Amino acid sequence: MDTFTPKRAWPLMVNNIIRQDLDELIGYLSQDDPRLTQSENVKLFEQEWSQWLGVKHSVFVNSGSSANLLTISALKETNGVGEIIVPPLTWVSDIASVLQCGFTPVFADINPRTLGLFDDLVINKITSNTKAVFLTHVLGFNALTRKLLNELKLRGIPLVEDVCESYGATFGGKKLGTFGLMSNFSFYYAHHMTTIEGGMIATNDDKLYQILRMLRSHGMVREASSDQLKNSFYNKYPDLNPDFIFAFPAYNVRSTELNAVMGRSQLKRLDRNNEIRRANFKLFLQNLDSDKYFTDFALEGSCNYAFTLVLKQADEQLCAQVMKTLHLLNVEFRRGTAGGGNQLRQPYLKQLNGNNSLQDFPAVEHVHFYGFYIGNYPSLDTEKIFTLCNYLNRLGVNL
Ligand SMILES: Cc1ncc(COP(=O)(O)O)c(C=O)c1O
Repeated sequence: MDTFTPKRAWPLMVNNIIRQDLDELIGYLSQDDPRLTQSENVKLFEQEWSQWLGVKHSVFVNSGSSANLLTISALKETNGVGEIIVPPLTWVSDIASVLQCGFTPVFADINPRTLGLFDDLVINKITSNTKAVFLTHVLGFNALTRKLLNELKLRGIPLVEDVCESYGATFGGKKLGTFGLMSNFSFYYAHHMTTIEGGMIATNDDKLYQILRMLRSHGMVREASSDQLKNSFYNKYPDLNPDFIFAFPAYNVRSTELNAVMGRSQLKRLDRNNEIRRANFKLFLQNLDSDKYFTDFALEGSCNYAFTLVLKQADEQLCAQVMKTLHLLNVEFRRGTAGGGNQLRQPYLKQLNGNNSLQDFPAVEHVHFYGFYIGNYPSLDTEKIFTLCNYLNRLGVNL
């Protein structure tokens, strides 16, 4: 049976919004005069997310990029600007938020087994001006190590985790996103679950939670949930209408009740879906020819909505064959994995970043040219995994 015939036979994501989610939305909209702007469902979704993750506070926003921006803005308010250590393999908004908030991004290369920052290289880049490490857990892999966590704790350097591509993954049995001072999640359609567009920030820090709530909504003091904090502003600014005190020059990155209704519906099946993704990913790696493709990923605790296909060698011919085969089979893919590969090659950074020579980043350079990401979604037919691996394994020699 040829399972690859329909157009776009294997997309990056499919069926991430199901009838049940749509019915929840329709049910909500069927009420008389339903409230659509941020309200009770946003609050409930935040509470349910905090419970699922195992943190004290969550703040729902309109995208993962907004989560990045608010997190770094909050860090600026509490710690002031300086350097932030970031990975070159990440999404543009991780670096853009650092730049937009006036920090200097400092890059370290990645570990090929996790595609995340290499702990020793991060530690080498720490200076007296390091304000944070903003680490991305790439495509379902955990990038944390005990060594890195210990070192950051010892030096009092905050960790911010970008978990947009990895929620459900764990380190030492604990969910990613519970280790950092703050952590970011994306609910864009192609991720582990979706609110169409959406993002979340999680933190155990009471003060940051209040700042994040205000930053989300124009910097308005009334958005804080702490009466003590609100009263301190009311007393300090008696000339201002308490409803309109703007504590920070901030943003409007709120989401809506509809996105929260969808998020609450989706969260109910996240763990079940993630189990299927884990099994699929193992099957994919087990069936790939490890002489041609890198299969030695750090799988412990991983939870991947994508198959990472990375050539073992910098082999142009095999690379071209892989892309031709994926096209032929109608398998959607991204070269360079998520986010377009090495951010240091992007125009927005090239003009700023004279100091970083690409030769200093061999691991990310390899992924940029010889790494791919392919969709891994719960309804994926496992037969397709076997078939694709067979095709890929036949490439290379003798062709
Ligand atoms: C690692 C990472 N961070 C941030 C984002 C931004 O999320 P969003 O697309 O919801 O803005 C993404 C997007 O896919 C991502 O992969």
